[in-house]
Amino acid sequence: MARPRVTFECTACGHRSVKWLGKCPDCSAWNSFVEALPVTEGTGKSGARAAGARVSEDAPARPVPITQLVAEGVEEQRLLSGVGEFDRILGGGLVPGSVTLIGGEPGVGKSTLLLQVAAGLGKNGHKVVYASGEESVAQVRDRAVRLDGLTDLLFLQSETELDRVLDGIKGIEPAVLVVDSVQTAFVPDVGSTPGSVSQVREVAARLVLHAKGTGRAVLLVGHVTKQGEMAGPRTLEHIVDAVIYFEGSANPPFRVLRGQKNRFGSTGELGLFEMTGEGLKEITEPSAALLEGRSENRPGTVVTACMEGSRCLLLEVQALVAPGFPGSVRRTALGIDPGRLAMLVAVLGKADHPLHDKEVYVNVVGGVRISETAADLAVAAAVVSSLLSRAPGGDWVVLGEIGLTGEVRSVPRLDQRLAEAVRHGFKRALVPTIPRGVEAPAGIQLVEARTVEEAMGALFAR
Ligand code: TYD
Ligand code: MG
Repeated sequence: MARPRVTFECTACGHRSVKWLGKCPDCSAWNSFVEALPVTEGTGKSGARAAGARVSEDAPARPVPITQLVAEGVEEQRLLSGVGEFDRILGGGLVPGSVTLIGGEPGVGKSTLLLQVAAGLGKNGHKVVYASGEESVAQVRDRAVRLDGLTDLLFLQSETELDRVLDGIKGIEPAVLVVDSVQTAFVPDVGSTPGSVSQVREVAARLVLHAKGTGRAVLLVGHVTKQGEMAGPRTLEHIVDAVIYFEGSANPPFRVLRGQKNRFGSTGELGLFEMTGEGLKEITEPSAALLEGRSENRPGTVVTACMEGSRCLLLEVQALVAPGFPGSVRRTALGIDPGRLAMLVAVLGKADHPLHDKEVYVNVVGGVRISETAADLAVAAAVVSSLLSRAPGGDWVVLGEIGLTGEVRSVPRLDQRLAEAVRHGFKRALVPTIPRGVEAPAGIQLVEARTVEEAMGALFAR
């Protein structure tokens, strides 16, 4: 008799082994192995194998010339939810036949968002089935009433078994299926408990097949752990077409929706929401919302303009420099890369602002994360401002990347950033050397800086 191939599985990354192991050789997690059922027909690999066959029923069996496909008109019709920020992040609405994963910590508002999206799709004439494995039909109904989400085209089901969800929608034939969540859905023949790696992977694989086979768009909720990882396998992100993360900050109650992966549009787009008593409200003027309550003339705060996808946001960078003991000082970076902060601190040290015996805390207000180097000069300016206990003045916006030799380097899309600053009433901009031919927009004075020393001189010289 053939021996079963594998019997143990890492719950963190899905690595399989014939023996139980204390430490996973793949992801180095300790005590993460649990007994898994052996892979046989109809379990585990079945979804993957079927996916390897053909992704959709109308897929041609042979390669065809691309021009022929264009001539046949394969352009898809996107489904709009009316939740503008959500549609924008997806690149202009949901693509039929796609699977989108919405990840976030428990309680951040994923179910609320998807219920609003489902109701909006219904109001736009698209049938939606919302299958919840976490809440009863009555609970979802009550929430929908509160969110003003009643429409005849929205159908609710409370079910955890995936096949029953897929059977249940047969007569309805919705354009969109919402599955909340991938951790509660389960496929009985896989054997392991809901939420385990094999279950999560199988559920996702079957939903991908279902979406490609029927042309139905699937929205899948996935909880992430405190460490920010999708609970279950990381492979989930590779299976689906788009991944959106929903992140929260407690104060102010903003929620940031961020496109992480998108097969049908650009990534890096960001949308801002506020959680209110009537559900999530889109913030249409994010710069104004993020700058609200700014204390302009306090040392340690500087405003910069960041590109988030195609949109420009004005962000307040705050820094606090406090005395510490050389050799054991803290550097805390919230909203920026800690490695980048360490580099900026070192560059400032060379530029006559020694920080080796100081604790440095940096925070980006509103819970937004900056991934651009164009904010370097603003971070450095906020740190120096706190160090000197001197405010640069409230009408400055600061832009520029800092190199290791202390040079201030150019930033992309300078004109768009300056335009946003002008729109919000900023009068002066500290910028890298402007290439010839670029003109300052009316209403803002540009001050060029070639080095960190020059920049700090312009901001803090009295
Ligand atoms: P929920 O969507 O259930 O989060 P998730 O599905 O990500 O776990 O909502 C989380 C929180 O949002 C919950 O604590 C209550 C709050 N909330 C409001 O403040 N206003 C509302 O209108 C709704 C529906 C929820
Ligand atoms: Mg939920």
